[in-house]
Order: sequence, then structure tokens, then C-alpha cells
Amino acid sequence: MVNVAVLGYGTVGSGVVEVIEKNKDMVNKKSGQELNVKYILDLRDFPGDPYEDKVVHDFDTIVNDEEVQIICETMGGVGAAYAFTKSALEKGKSVCTSNKELVAKHGPELLQIARKNNCNYLFEASVGGGIPIIRPLNYSLTAERIEGINGILNGTTNYILSKMEMEGADFDTVLKEAQEKGYAERNPEADVEGHDACRKIAILSSLMMGKNVDSEKIYTEGITKVTADDFVYAKAAGKTVKLLGRSVAMGESEVLAMVAPFMIDKSHPLAMVNDVFNAVFVTGNMLGDSMYYGRGAGKLPTASAVVSDVVDCARHLGKVIMCFWDDADAKLADISELDRSFYVRVKASAKDAAVEMLGDDVLTVPGRDEDLVIFSKSMKEKEFAACCEKLGDAVLSKIRLY
Ligand code: HSE
Repeated sequence: MVNVAVLGYGTVGSGVVEVIEKNKDMVNKKSGQELNVKYILDLRDFPGDPYEDKVVHDFDTIVNDEEVQIICETMGGVGAAYAFTKSALEKGKSVCTSNKELVAKHGPELLQIARKNNCNYLFEASVGGGIPIIRPLNYSLTAERIEGINGILNGTTNYILSKMEMEGADFDTVLKEAQEKGYAERNPEADVEGHDACRKIAILSSLMMGKNVDSEKIYTEGITKVTADDFVYAKAAGKTVKLLGRSVAMGESEVLAMVAPFMIDKSHPLAMVNDVFNAVFVTGNMLGDSMYYGRGAGKLPTASAVVSDVVDCARHLGKVIMCFWDDADAKLADISELDRSFYVRVKASAKDAAVEMLGDDVLTVPGRDEDLVIFSKSMKEKEFAACCEKLGDAVLSKIRLY
């Protein structure tokens, strides 16, 4: 029997207990032994809950119990979660987590502590919720040189953008509706400003490079400036708008990583990913493109990924599962030097100046003559920014083309 403790009995933590219980036979068979949830750590009590007798309020009870071999950290944050994870790993207890903030910030350090203590720090649930993506990068695509990763990594923003596209609604209206339905947090900043997607692309980029990609250095732009009008023009051009986490390997130790809304052709597989779904599109030098799609958030999908890590840990007790993520930092390429094309919507009065600076690929939509859309010629990000500055208030919106 393998004893497991769950830290945090919130949405994901209670899901972990539910998955272990509901799929008991399968999970035990695949673990090679019985998994037993011995403790649940939470500040609260849960009277009437079937697992109320397992609830403890003191982490020391767990970390000092030699029978506990695997810990699921589903608390979130980088305070107590960091201290508890470190202390568990130092005692040789494996930790499985859904906490992308902690993995992005302290991943290499925690992996190193795990290695030193013959245990594992696994984080399948930290990116893409229930979608297997960490394990494919670590174990399956091992014959590949990964050249790039593009992902829809945040369910809340993908839901908002999908609704804006399908209903012609504006950002604020859809955000409010998403909050009422419980999809978006009351404080939606981490989602809508792209910070959540940034942590996830930092984790994926680090695995792609085998070096640490610092999430705080990644250029990040959210979706708050995308308008209903932008979707009208995108549709007319056979495109849509998606918030993408993007990462391109520029050699052994340099990576180009960013998070921003992109206008993408409707025929691209990522354009077909709607609502709260996530997808990660991986390009390898031998396989070419492969895509991993599914539910990127929610209680049971995320818990399923955490439990898949628990099973992996149970199968590898006392053995280290290799994960190539050194603490040496990868260099982040300067995105301002990057060449690309842009969608720009300007006031019709600025047509001549805009065409002269950006190019003459003008999109005409019948009945819309107050503003003008240009798909710019290929130019450096910094040159484009300078043109927009010259156009000033005439620029109504701008989105990078994929
Ligand atoms: N807020 C996140 C999302 C949850 O919307 O995708 C999963 O990380």
C-alpha cells in the first residue's frame, strides 16, 4: 500500500480524492499497489464529508509520518505551498502538483531537491489541466528536437474570445457572463492579462530547452484590448483571434517566448479550439506537428492529471524519473527585433499615412467605411511600434498575425 496526502481540499484537491476513489480499481492496478489517501491538509473542517476523518490542520503530521510517500500539492500560491513542497521532497516524499505558479517560479530548484532525495516532483496538471503534455514532452518526444510550441493555454480567455467571435459580443459583456457562470475568477487579471498563460508557456519552454525560462522575462499581453469589431474583420479575412503562448527554440540556449493575442487562419488546428478547451501544438524536427487537445481546467480533468502523476510516483518509488530542466537560464530573444505582419485597424481619415507606412493590403468590408483594416507588410516589431506611434489616435486596434 502507498499512503498519499493531499494538501488543500479545494476544487482540485477534492477532485484528486474523488478520482482515486472512483477509479480505485484501475488506479491501483496501474500503480501496482493500493493507493490510500491517509491525510487531507486544510485549514477548514469538513463536517459530513466522507473523508472528514482524514482532515488534519498541521503539515508536520504529514511530513513526519514515514508511511506517507506521495503528496499532492493542490493549494496553489508560492508561499506555504513552496515551503511544504521543499520540506516534503527533502524527506524523500514525492510531490505531484497542479500549481503552475510554483512550478514556473521554483521548478528547477524543486526538481533538484527531488533528485538528491531519490523522489520525484511531477507537474502534469500545471499546464493544460487534464491534457497530457508534460509527459509527452518528457517521455514520448524524446527522439525529437522540439523546435516550437504554440498553445491555447488558458480556458477562461479562450471561452471569452470564442463567445466574442460567435455572438459578436464585446469583451466586458462576455467577461461578466463568464464570471456569473463561474468560469472566470472574480479577479480575472491573471487570466485576461495573460499571466496564467505566461507561467504555462514558461514551463513548456523550459522543458523544450532543458534550461530555465524565466516567466517574469516573457513578453506578455492579454486580451482586454481585443474588440468585437476585430472579430468582424477577422471573419471577413477567414481568420479568428486566439490568445497564444508561443515559444521558438533559437538554438541550444536562446528561446523566443511570448504571450499575446494572434490573428490566425480559421483553417489552422488551433483556430478550431473553442470554449474552455486548451490545445498545445508542438513542432518537432522529425515528427513535424502534433497537437494535444482537451480540458485545460476544471476539477476532475485537473485532478485526473494529478492522479496520473501519483500513479507514476507509485511505480517509481525510490527511483528518479528524468526531467530535463536545468537551473541555468535560457536567454530570451528580444521580440522587438522579430519580423512579422500585423492586423491594424485605423480611422479612415488616416488611410494615406497608414498605407504608406504599413503597406497596401487593405481589407474592405461592405458597410464599414469609418475605419480601415490593413494587413501590414512584414516588418520588425519595433518598426511597427514606431509607425503606430506616428499614427497616434488614428490606430483603433492592432493584433499580430500568426
Ligand atoms: N484559470 C485557468 C484557466 C485555470 O482558465 O485556464 C487552469 O489553469
